[in-house]
Amino acid sequence: MNRVEVRNLEVTYGNRTVLALDRVVFERGGFYGIVGPSGAGKSTLLRVINLLEKPVSGQLHLFGEEVDLSTLSYAKGMPLQRQMGFVAQKPSMFQASVYDNVALGLRYRKRNRVQIQALVQEALDLVELSHLSDQRAHTLSGGEAQRVALARTLVCEPSLLLLDEPTASLDPYNISIFERVIQTIHRQKHTTILMITHNLPQARRLAQTCLFVNNGRIVERADTEAFFHHPHCTELADFISGRMIC
Ligand SMILES: Nc1ncnc2c1ncn2[C@@H]1O[C@H](COP(=O)(O)OP(=O)(O)OP(=O)(O)O)[C@@H](O)[C@H]1O
Ligand SMILES: [Mg+2]
Repeated sequence: MNRVEVRNLEVTYGNRTVLALDRVVFERGGFYGIVGPSGAGKSTLLRVINLLEKPVSGQLHLFGEEVDLSTLSYAKGMPLQRQMGFVAQKPSMFQASVYDNVALGLRYRKRNRVQIQALVQEALDLVELSHLSDQRAHTLSGGEAQRVALARTLVCEPSLLLLDEPTASLDPYNISIFERVIQTIHRQKHTTILMITHNLPQARRLAQTCLFVNNGRIVERADTEAFFHHPHCTELADFISGRMIC
């Protein structure tokens, strides 16, 4: 996969602009942390990249292709979308077994039964849930369901992984498994990862580069250590120290 580049983006609801960006680039294989106050536009940015939003204007360079976001058709978007994985805060499971939930994306991609079995097993091993393969997915605990959601996403080997507060409602044990898995995937497969989190120590632990989104703009971007130790703008310093009032 090549870099991800968003240019001249404007997302508006009614007459309110919630996101306006001149240009942002995410390099191939990078692990990016995205932080900022509630309502800043972080989820909107990930939804735009995941082709779930139709902005007023915007160009996206994705998997080597140029996409005009305001005119993108379903037919052109679908193959691009299939190269991305998205995990949100609350997993929604299909009314089926854990196995079938993880297998679904592979069936859409017309993989054969033997391949599907091996890949699902591998993905469930990775999130340490092989023993629950036959359980109905909607009976899982929140932490287990989120790990299945991660397995379901990773089994399709996305080049770009979009994570929107995926561990926000998990306990420390499930958070540590989730973090270990995405670090392993990042290291082994060089997956580009964009992760929104309100857990600042988590962003420090995982991300190589962090971005601060405020009022629909990317206000600061830096290597993670510099971002937290030497923030340039007052807004970021206030946000990190808990002084920011929204
Ligand atoms: N479909 C929509 N219609 C109207 N307004 C919307 C819509 N989606 C998002 N917004 C508004 O856009 C702004 C940005 O929302 P977004 O979900 O991107 O924030 P966020 O940074 O992810 O916040 P949080 O940290 O609370 O998840 C918010 O003010 C929100 O109310
Ligand atoms: Mg959000």
